[in-house]
Amino acid sequence: MKNILVIGSTGQIGSELTMKLRREYPGGTIVAGYIPGAEPKGELAASGPAEIVDITDAARIAELVDKYKIDTIYNLAALLSAVAEAKPQLAWKIGVGGLYNCLEVSREKGCALFTPSSIGSFGPGTPHDHTPQDTIQRPKTIYGITKVTGEMLSDYYADRFGVDARSVRFPGLISYVAPPGGGTTDYAVDIYYSAVKGEEFKCPLKPGTYMDMMYMPDALRAAIEIMEADPEKLKHRNSFNIASMSFDPEIIYNKIKEYVPDFKMSYDLDPLRQKIADSWPDSLDDTCAREEWGWKPEYDLDSMTRDMLENLHKKIL
Ligand code: SER
Repeated sequence: MKNILVIGSTGQIGSELTMKLRREYPGGTIVAGYIPGAEPKGELAASGPAEIVDITDAARIAELVDKYKIDTIYNLAALLSAVAEAKPQLAWKIGVGGLYNCLEVSREKGCALFTPSSIGSFGPGTPHDHTPQDTIQRPKTIYGITKVTGEMLSDYYADRFGVDARSVRFPGLISYVAPPGGGTTDYAVDIYYSAVKGEEFKCPLKPGTYMDMMYMPDALRAAIEIMEADPEKLKHRNSFNIASMSFDPEIIYNKIKEYVPDFKMSYDLDPLRQKIADSWPDSLDDTCAREEWGWKPEYDLDSMTRDMLENLHKKIL
């Protein structure tokens, strides 16, 4: 039996991960943690308990852990990269202060802890192609700085206090369910909405800007499989490179055009996002995740595109 607290359950990852955890652990209690103004709705609200929890409030996290006998925390509270640049102090407070609260509660109460890291944890000095698991991490964004700090702090808590903290470095995540907000990789979600609505897409990044991307079903599976992995086999913990596809705006545009032949794209560059994207890897090497816990993606650009277009048609037309 698993009792899980999802902090940030109504966000981009949380809204889908919470439902998947409820399906995976039917005998457990999966608590949807949210902040006022981001209440769970529909199936998420109807299918299990929901509680207000602000990640900056450690006492509240501890209270919920006691109330529901929580054994695992999924810490999904974050500001994405471009928004974080506009609010760096808040990004640190949530990304590092919030993680510290989760680690401390996990230490005191014996919880396992999942916290996403990101391709944003790398920087301009990182090898950009087939970026190794263990390499230079000197990000220039506050988002990346919170992620590297989080990776190191989580490993420290694992080594020093035996906290079962684990993490993956997510690529840009693509989904037709909850929209992302304020990320650098979000164009790869927005482009599908434009294609389905019959609108021209204005791409904020220039041709040749490659980044790792992943379809949400693979990302959700990764978040569960890493927590289920045999700890004896883990040489790394915080955090694993995971990958499934890498493309630039031209490649995803041409792929969508195979299914929507009239689709048009032009460029309207966003200098902030371009600078961030240029500092991130073009493609990650995920050999360690494959070897240490059997990571394997199921979707590529073609199968993701077919699924996105089909589901967005149903959703918005
Ligand atoms: N999707 C995130 C962003 O673009 C990266 O982890 O900010």
